[in-house]
Amino acid sequence: MENNFIQGTTGLTGLIGYPLKHSLSPSMHNSAFRKLGLDLVYLAFEIEDGSLQDGLNAMRTLNVKGFNVTMPHKQKIVQLLDGVSDDAKIIESVNTVKNENGKLIGYNTDGKGLVKALEESGIAYKGKKVVILGAGGAARAIAIQLAFDGAAQIVMANRTIIKAKMIINTINEKIPTSKGKAIEMDEEIIKEELKDASILINCTSIGMKSTIDQSPISNVDTFNKDVFVVDIIYDPLKTKFMSMAEEVGCKTMNGIDMLIYQGDLSFNIWTGEDMPIEYIKEVLFKTK
Ligand code: ATR
Repeated sequence: MENNFIQGTTGLTGLIGYPLKHSLSPSMHNSAFRKLGLDLVYLAFEIEDGSLQDGLNAMRTLNVKGFNVTMPHKQKIVQLLDGVSDDAKIIESVNTVKNENGKLIGYNTDGKGLVKALEESGIAYKGKKVVILGAGGAARAIAIQLAFDGAAQIVMANRTIIKAKMIINTINEKIPTSKGKAIEMDEEIIKEELKDASILINCTSIGMKSTIDQSPISNVDTFNKDVFVVDIIYDPLKTKFMSMAEEVGCKTMNGIDMLIYQGDLSFNIWTGEDMPIEYIKEVLFKTK
């Protein structure tokens, strides 16, 4: 047994999407399974667009215990499952599936991962105003989850404003406890909105490795030092956006905690146990 932990009883979990070669999820989940001594393995299954139904049939046949879902299947899978959680239904996207006695049930832990990261850092969002930059898939999951979990106001700025308007319409129609507003990606307008906001989140792709010297905000005066600033990017660990925010005195958080907590929440859905967070950070990022 010593090095080979796989046996006749070992349960299969994994990830479906395409491409997957660079995913951190297999390393994260297998490390956590081993650390906790759980009789499970996690594999990456590259399934191309167009083969999702076949892929799901295979998951059922092989009695896979649970799996993550990433691009290009997150939206299409919603229609193909046996059940979907209420918040994932509104987000219209699933990143986690659990096999519950043969029924495949979908959840979304992307936005929840960010919410848990805020909670673990003691950042209040219930009843507060949150400003979000970007209106892609990640922005949609985060905005809707924050609204669903009690943020009073969501303001979303995007280059293509129609995409922000669509997300905001969903919030205003389906989550009556939260008020949404779409705005232009205009620094004067964003600055005005930040005056009474609690949290600012970058969900655009600006600042990743290919645009490392860019920031979605170009003028440091736009930031408000009392607003907690989050960038969901984790490579680099500190984006230009975060450095600029820190220059004016803002507290900041990068995307590592969101990444790990979305994994932790999926792990918990499958196993009922919490992921050993600090150990996983060490394994993935050698930060401690
Ligand atoms: P993800 O799935 O990570 O959310 P995405 O759906 O491709 O990624 O979304 C990328 C976001 O970054 C979008 O809000 C995009 O703006 P548009 O909707 O206008 O395309 C934003 N983005 C990317 N490059 C940008 C740029 N150079 N300037 C402004 N916004 C940009």
